[in-house]
Amino acid sequence: MGWEREDRFSVSAGGGKDKGREGKDGRGNGGGRGTVKHRPWSWQRFPLRPGRGRQRVLITGGAGFIGSHLAEELLRRGNEVHLIDDLSTGSIENIDHLRGDPNLHYAIDTIANESVLAELVDRCDTIYHMAAAVGVKLVVEEPVRTIETNIYGTEAVLRHAAKKGRRVVLASTSEVYGKSARVPFREDDAMVLGPSTTRRWGYACSKAIDEFLALAYFHEHGLPVTVLRFFNTVGPRQVGTYGMVVPRFVRAALRGEPLGIHGDGLQTRCFSFVGDVVGAAIKVAAGSYTVGEVYNVGTDEEISIAELAERVVAVCGSASPIVHVPYEEAYGEGFEDMRRRVPDLSKIRQAIGWKPEYDLGRILSAVVEYESGRMRVEMPAAPELAPPPPVPA
Ligand SMILES: NC(=O)c1ccc[n+]([C@@H]2O[C@H](COP(=O)([O-])OP(=O)(O)OC[C@H]3O[C@@H](n4cnc5c(N)ncnc54)[C@H](O)[C@@H]3O)[C@@H](O)[C@H]2O)c1
Repeated sequence: MGWEREDRFSVSAGGGKDKGREGKDGRGNGGGRGTVKHRPWSWQRFPLRPGRGRQRVLITGGAGFIGSHLAEELLRRGNEVHLIDDLSTGSIENIDHLRGDPNLHYAIDTIANESVLAELVDRCDTIYHMAAAVGVKLVVEEPVRTIETNIYGTEAVLRHAAKKGRRVVLASTSEVYGKSARVPFREDDAMVLGPSTTRRWGYACSKAIDEFLALAYFHEHGLPVTVLRFFNTVGPRQVGTYGMVVPRFVRAALRGEPLGIHGDGLQTRCFSFVGDVVGAAIKVAAGSYTVGEVYNVGTDEEISIAELAERVVAVCGSASPIVHVPYEEAYGEGFEDMRRRVPDLSKIRQAIGWKPEYDLGRILSAVVEYESGRMRVEMPAAPELAPPPPVPA
C-alpha cells in the first residue's frame, strides 16, 4: 500500500494546484535535522514514494483499540509497521497475536520521549497519530493528563514529522463539533464548545488545537497531513472502562447485570465499525489530494442510547434490566452531553469513494462474539457465559 501523487485533489492552499506537477522522487524534502523552517506547502516538496510499494508506517497509540486494528490491517497488506504506545489505555494483549510478525516492531514508551519518537519518525514514511487520552470518564477524571497528552504529544509528533517531511494522518474526533445542534455535521461547520469550567470540553478543545496545529504545519511548513474526525467507533478490543458505551452495555448484558443509561437515553449517536474506519484511514493516507483536508469518518445510522440498550439486551438474549443513571452520578456535577451527533459523509465519499460497510447489527454481533469469548477466558466455569444466540439480521 503506497501513497502517490494523483491528478485528483482539492488542496487550495500553499503552492496551489498548478505547482510542482513535475516533482521528482525525493524523501526528506520536508525538512532537515534542525528546527522546522517556514516553508509553504507546494507540490514540489511532496515526499514522493513509490506508488503501491511496501510502506514503513508508524502508529502512535498502536496498542490501543483503533491503533491495533490499523496495525493488523497494514501488516496484512505487507507493510513494515512500527508502534509506540505507553499502554496507558491500550494493552499489550491487543497486539499479542501480531507480535510474531517479523514486520512488526514496537516500543512501549510515551510519545513524550522525543528521542525515541524522532528515531521512529525517521524510520517511517507515514505516521498515523492515534495516541491520545480518550474516553469521557478519563477526560473528566484526569483533565491535566488529557490536555497535556493531546496537545504536547501531538505537537511533538507534528514537529518531528515536519522536520522529515513525513505523511501524517491525525486522529481527531466528532467531539470538536461540541454542542452544535446543526446536524448532520459538515467539516466546515463552526465548533460550538462549552465553558472551560466543564471539564469534558478540555478533550474537544485539545483535539481542536491538534487540528489547528496540524493545519498550521501544513500551511507554514508543508507538512503533508490529513485530519480525520472519527465519530463513535466500535468493535472488538474496545474497553468500556473509560466510558465507551457499546462494550460497557455488552459486558453488562452478558453478565446479566443492569445496563446503565446516562441521562434520559434520548441522546443519539452513530456507531461505526473499526474495520471500516481503519480502511478509511489507509485510503486517505494513500491519496495526495487529501493533504491539508479534514474529513468526517463514521456512519450516519443514528440510534438513541435507550434503543441501543434494548438492542444489546435482545442480541445477547439477556434478562438484564435497563436503568437510568443521572449524569451527575456518572461524571460529577455540571456534566454536559450532546443530544445528537451525526456526520455528513459527503466529503470523504467524494474524495476517496469511501462508505462504511458494517451496519449496527453486524457491529453488535462482532462485539458480542468478542466479549463473550473474553469472558469465557476470564471465567471458564461460568455457566451463563454460553455463546449468545445468533444475531437477527
Ligand atoms: N474510539 C472512538 O470512538 C474514537 C472517536 C473519536 C476519536 N477517536 C480518536 O482515535 C484515536 C484512537 O482512539 P482509541 O479509541 O483507539 O483509544 P485507545 O485509548 O484505545 O487508544 C489510544 C492509545 O494511545 C496510547 N497512548 C496514550 N497516551 C500515550 C502517550 N503519551 N504515548 C504513547 N501512547 C499513548 C494509549 O495507551 C492507547 O493505546 C484517539 O486519538 C482518539 O481521540 C476515537
